[in-house]
Amino acid sequence: MAFYLGIDIGTSGSRAVVVDENGKVRGSASAEHTVQAPHPLWSEQNPAEWWTAVCSAVPRAVDSARALPEQIVGIGLSGQMHGLVLLDKGEKVLRPAILWNDQRTAEQCAEIVRRVGGLKALLGHVSNPALTGFTAPKILWVQQHEPQHYERAAKALLPKDYVRLKLTGEYATEVSDASGTLLLDVAKRGWSKELVSKLGLDLGLLPAVYESTVISGKITAAAAKALGGAVKAGTPVVGGGGDQAAGAVGAGVVKSGVASVSLGTSGVVFLHADEVKTDPNGRLHTFCHAVPGKWHLMGVSLSSGGSLQWFKNALGHMEIADSRRANADPYDLLIEPAQAEPAGCRGLQFLPYLTGERTPHADPYATGAFVGITPQTTKAAMTRAIVEGVCYSLRDSVEIFRALKLPVGEIRVTGGGAKHVFWRQTLADVFGQGTRALEAAEGPAYGAALLAAVGRGGFGSVEEACAAMVRTADAVEPDAQNRQVYERFYPLWRNLYTSLKGDFAALAKAAAAP
Ligand code: XUL
Repeated sequence: MAFYLGIDIGTSGSRAVVVDENGKVRGSASAEHTVQAPHPLWSEQNPAEWWTAVCSAVPRAVDSARALPEQIVGIGLSGQMHGLVLLDKGEKVLRPAILWNDQRTAEQCAEIVRRVGGLKALLGHVSNPALTGFTAPKILWVQQHEPQHYERAAKALLPKDYVRLKLTGEYATEVSDASGTLLLDVAKRGWSKELVSKLGLDLGLLPAVYESTVISGKITAAAAKALGGAVKAGTPVVGGGGDQAAGAVGAGVVKSGVASVSLGTSGVVFLHADEVKTDPNGRLHTFCHAVPGKWHLMGVSLSSGGSLQWFKNALGHMEIADSRRANADPYDLLIEPAQAEPAGCRGLQFLPYLTGERTPHADPYATGAFVGITPQTTKAAMTRAIVEGVCYSLRDSVEIFRALKLPVGEIRVTGGGAKHVFWRQTLADVFGQGTRALEAAEGPAYGAALLAAVGRGGFGSVEEACAAMVRTADAVEPDAQNRQVYERFYPLWRNLYTSLKGDFAALAKAAAAP
């Protein structure tokens, strides 16, 4: 039996998944990373942590699958998107990676729009607006603020592509992740030479760009050794995908009308598109799909699972301790009492803008907020308000899809949050539309393994692989009563951002002052 290995470089950790030819997950393992925020609005990670995590997770995953190294016939990579890894010509990392949820580049974004001649011209080049999390503004930031690093920079890589370099010795990326750099001509699926030159950047900084199923290199002898011999030198590594595109492949979101909602640190509403379609207002992202010749649109909330993770770490010490004693999931212990709270939390509202927000506000200065706390407010109500606030913020994206008359048919829920039926039910109630879980809830790493299966000829196409390997699981339909409550609260929740927008900006300015 042949096996495929998917490796996902997430924000809070890396995950390796071993999948067999029938799509069954045979083994998996994870290892954590830390995130640093040395200044307000910054979010950074040390790329060495990714490699250490991969070297720890891959051997354990292969071992738990009881697979022999020679049975792993293909590897696919996926990872957090948009991060900037700058390397010198000796492949040395020049500074910590600047992550997707870093918000330092508002000035560089405005400068990009100016240099290109406006939003319309920018959309014409790369199909997307300049957003603070994207890679190109980060390169300009390093150029302007850390010239000592910029001058020595020989290559700019995305997180999973740094791991690819460690695995294969090749500088390469693929179209889905490259779409989030703001330097890819998304319609033509190649680097935008015009934009690169308008920004005064060197095309040589960028790696080769492939379709996601194409083999980009082979495991080197040094990498095989670093992975403890779990895979053999010479094993092919395919392009893979940005975590959202790879996750969508893993969820079978490879045809029109099928959408997914991923609940990881971020929350993403993702819609497959057979053709390139852009939101003329630039609110949605238009990226290449990991399906060759296809695209997707998405709306991104920056702190979805990340909001609940913050709450667990800040106020969930009891649940964390109890979960250790009972070998349980601390999120289960938080969510259980929250389910008993009434929908709408008696007016308690949560804005999930812990690291600013992308869709629909594109506001780096927004922060999180609870509004409506009373002496009766409990931890359970706060937990429920977080889940509801995250679902409202994802509905903001769904509303844009609806307004653009892009049909959002079946919604498949993926990512860590998908494990909890409460998240899926609340999404269904807030969206007014049913949601569905998946049998293999492994997310992007699973999709990356499927892309490897296609790249190795196990299937003729990604669509064929998904039809054979991806199985949906239980569906939940909106609860009529809760739905009514959320229809009442959603517009009120939306107003809160409008009311607080100016205050968020003023607070950010005050916090940045020496
Ligand atoms: C997508 C995005 C996030 C990251 C984190 O545009 O920024 O989903 O990929 O995983």
